[in-house]
Amino acid sequence: MSLHERPDAAPVGEAIAHESAALHVTGHALYTDDLGVRLQNLLHAWPVGSPHAHARVTGLDTQGALAVPGVVRVLTAADVPGVNDAGVKGDEPLFPTVAMYHGHPVAWVLADSEDAARLGAAAVKVVYEPLSSVITVREAIAAGAFQGAQSTLARGDVTVGFEQAAHVFTGEFDIGGQEHFYLETNAALAHVDEAGQVFIQSSTQHPTETQEITAHVLGLPSSAVTVQCLRMGGGFGGKEMQPHGYAAIAALGATLTGRPVRLRLNRTLDMTQTGKRHPFHAAWKAGFDADGRFTALEVTLTSDGGWSLDLSEPVMARALCHLDNAYFIPHVHARGRIARTNKTSQTAFRGFGGPQGMLVTEDILGRVAPLLGLDAHELRRRNFYQPGEATPYGQPVRHAERMHDLWAQLLARSDFRERQAEVAAFNAAHPHRKRGLSVTPVKFGISFNFTAYNQAGALVHVYKDGSVLINHGGTEMGQGLHTKMMQVAATALGVPLSSVRLAPTRTDKVPNTSATAASSGADLNGGAVKDACDQIRANLAAVAAGALGVHPDDVRFEAGRVFPIGHPDRSLDWKTLVHDAYHLRTQLWAAGFYRTPGLHWDRVAMQGEPFKYFSYGASVTEVEVDGFTGAYRVRRADLLHDVGDSLSPLIDLGQVEGGYVQGLGWLTLEELRWDESDGPNRGRLQTQSASTYKLPSFSELPGQFNVGLLERATETGVVYGSKAVGEPPLMLAISAREALREACAAFGPPGRTTPLNSPATPEAVYWALHEARTARHEEVPGD
Ligand code: MTE
Ligand code: MOS
Repeated sequence: MSLHERPDAAPVGEAIAHESAALHVTGHALYTDDLGVRLQNLLHAWPVGSPHAHARVTGLDTQGALAVPGVVRVLTAADVPGVNDAGVKGDEPLFPTVAMYHGHPVAWVLADSEDAARLGAAAVKVVYEPLSSVITVREAIAAGAFQGAQSTLARGDVTVGFEQAAHVFTGEFDIGGQEHFYLETNAALAHVDEAGQVFIQSSTQHPTETQEITAHVLGLPSSAVTVQCLRMGGGFGGKEMQPHGYAAIAALGATLTGRPVRLRLNRTLDMTQTGKRHPFHAAWKAGFDADGRFTALEVTLTSDGGWSLDLSEPVMARALCHLDNAYFIPHVHARGRIARTNKTSQTAFRGFGGPQGMLVTEDILGRVAPLLGLDAHELRRRNFYQPGEATPYGQPVRHAERMHDLWAQLLARSDFRERQAEVAAFNAAHPHRKRGLSVTPVKFGISFNFTAYNQAGALVHVYKDGSVLINHGGTEMGQGLHTKMMQVAATALGVPLSSVRLAPTRTDKVPNTSATAASSGADLNGGAVKDACDQIRANLAAVAAGALGVHPDDVRFEAGRVFPIGHPDRSLDWKTLVHDAYHLRTQLWAAGFYRTPGLHWDRVAMQGEPFKYFSYGASVTEVEVDGFTGAYRVRRADLLHDVGDSLSPLIDLGQVEGGYVQGLGWLTLEELRWDESDGPNRGRLQTQSASTYKLPSFSELPGQFNVGLLERATETGVVYGSKAVGEPPLMLAISAREALREACAAFGPPGRTTPLNSPATPEAVYWALHEARTARHEEVPGD
C-alpha cells in the first residue's frame, strides 16, 4: 500500500475527541508548571527587566537582592560557562550588556519562593546609560535600521507588465502585529540528576532546539541535556523559538545551585518579553488589464523584526511566497526587508508571514475592485490560478482546479448571490446601519521552506502483552497532533485505538526533531509513525504467515485480528500473535523515519519547489456595521476548507473554526500599542494584559457559523491521504475584513475605493465609513 491508501475500517478518519479533551475541560491536564510541586527544594526565577527601550548596562549590583530573605542566587553573564546567547543567529545575548527593549531581562534572581524572587529582582541595582531608540517600522525605515538578509522574489519584467496594464494603482498598507495569548504562558522546569544529566520540562514547540541552546549555554554536549514537553496550553508559533532562553536560565540555575528551578512568566512578563506576529508595512504598485487581470505587481515589504532576528528571515520568505495567494500574477517584483526596532523580537505566529503577504494582495484587490468597476468576488475569481500555471517562485500550482471547485461550492452553499441582493436591499433601507458580504480564497504552501526541516522520527514499541506505546518528534499544543498520531498507529498496526498509548515528547526518545510548526506536524510525524508501525507489522506478518499458512503479503491486520486476505473467519488474535512472535525472537519495536520527497528551495534566488502541496480554502463572511460608532458584528460565516481526507474530522473542524476566529482577532480586534512618545516610558508595551488587549471570545463568534471540509479530496503522497490544517484557516478571516470594507463603502457613493486600517477595530471602521460617508458623489475616483 502506498502512503496515502487507507485500509478498511481504519481508525484514521474517525471523528473522535481530542485525546486530552476530558482532561482539558476538567482541569486535570497537567502543563509544565504544574509539575514543579512534585520537586523538593524548588527554586523560583524572576527577571530584572530593563526600564528603558535601549540602554547600556554600566553597572549591576546584586547585593541588595542577596539581602532579601529567601533569595539564593542572582544569575548574571559571569555565571555562563558556555555561550552567552539564547538564539540561533548569535544576536540574542542571554544576559545582555545593552538592553534592547523595554522589559529586556538583564539578570535573573533565584529564590525559595516566587515572592522572594520578585522582591529580590526589585532590589538589584542596575545602572543604565539610555541610548536612542527606534520604535515604529516607519522610524526604522527613516533611520535605515534593518537586520538580516534582504530578499527579492521576481518573475518576468514588471516594466513590461505595467506597460501592458490598462490600470495602474499604487498604495501603502500597514498591518498590525498580534500577541499569541496562549493560555499557558512560557514555562520551564529544570533539574540535574545524580549523574549530571540536565533534564528540562519546557513549554516548547521545538524541544531539540531548546536542548541545543541550553547545551551551548551550559557548555555541554547535546547528549547531556534532555528536554521533555508534556503538552502546551497553546503555542501558535510563539513557542517555536522564544522558550529556549527561559529553559537555559532554569537549567543554568539548576546546575549552579544543585536545586530544581522553576521559571514561569506571568501574563504581563510574557506579553512584555516574548515576540509576537510581525507587523508589516507594504508599499505597492499593481497593474491590471482591461478585464481586471493582474499584469504586474511590485511590492516592498518591511517587517518589524523587533530587537533580534530569530525567525524574521524565514517569516519574510513565507510572506513573499504568499503574496500571490490564489492568483496568477505574470510579472512580479517583490522585495522584503526586516526592520530592527527596540521591541520584543517578533517571531512565528500561525501562518508565519503568509497571512501578511496574502493580506497585502487581498487588500489591493478589495481597494481597486470598485475602481475597475467589478465586484470584488468577480475580480478575485478572474485572477485565480489555472491548471498548469506556476507561482512566482517557480512551483507548479498542483490541483489549481480545486480552488475553482471549492469557490463554486462555497458560493452555492452560502447562498452568496441571493444574500448579495438581501444585503443591498438592507443597505438601501437603513441609512445608519450597513451590511457587507465578502468571499476570499486561501492557498497556502505546506512544508518548511528550509528543506532540511522536512524530516521526522518516531519510536514505536509493541510490548509482549500486545499493548502499544508510541513516541514521536512532534509536540502537542492543543492542535490534536497526538490524537492523530494514535489514529495513524492504530490504523497501521490494525489494532483498536484503545490499545495505543502515547508518551510525552522527549529528545532522548526521538532526536534531531524539527519544530512542530509550518502545519506539517501530522504529515511529518505521521509518516514516521507509520514507517515504524509498518516495520513491526512486517515482522509480525512473517510470523502470522507461518501460522496461517499463507504468504506474508496476504496477511491482513484489522481491529486487533490477524487473518488471511478474504478470510476473516480464520483470524488470529493480535495479542496471541504478539506473544508467539516474542517467543520466536521477533523485534517488536521500531524507529521510524520520514522525509518529504520532491522538495528543493534556493533561499537566495527565491526559486524552487519548497512545498509538498497547497492547502486550499475559501470563506464567506457577512457583517453589520453601526454608522454612529463603527461597532460591528459578524452575522454569519461560511467556511469550506481542504484538509485532504481528514485524519481526524472533529480535530480538523476545531482547527478550522479556531483558525478563523484567531484570524478574526488579528484582523479586527487585537491591537498592540507601544509607547511611541519621547517620554520616560518610550518603547513600553501599553497593552500588557487582557484588560487593554482585546481578544475574540464567545461574544465575537459569528452568529451563524457553518464550517465544512472539502469532500473527496485525497492527497496522494501524504499519510493516509490527508492534508495539513493548522495554519491555513487563519487566513479565511480575511473575508471578514473585506466584508467590513464593503459595509463601510455602502455608507458612501459607489465606485470609490475604501481604504481600511488593519486591524479593522471599531475605531478604524468608524474612520473608514466616515470617509466614505463624507465623499462627494460627483468626485471621480483617484489614480
Ligand atoms: N491549535 C491549537 N489548538 N493550539 C496551537 O497552539 N498552533 C497552530 C496550529 N493550530 C496551534 C493550533 C500553529 S502555528 C501550527 S504551525 C500548527 O497548529 C502546528 O501543529 P501541526 O503541525 O500539528 O498542525
Ligand atoms: Mo506555526 S507559526 O508554524 O508554529
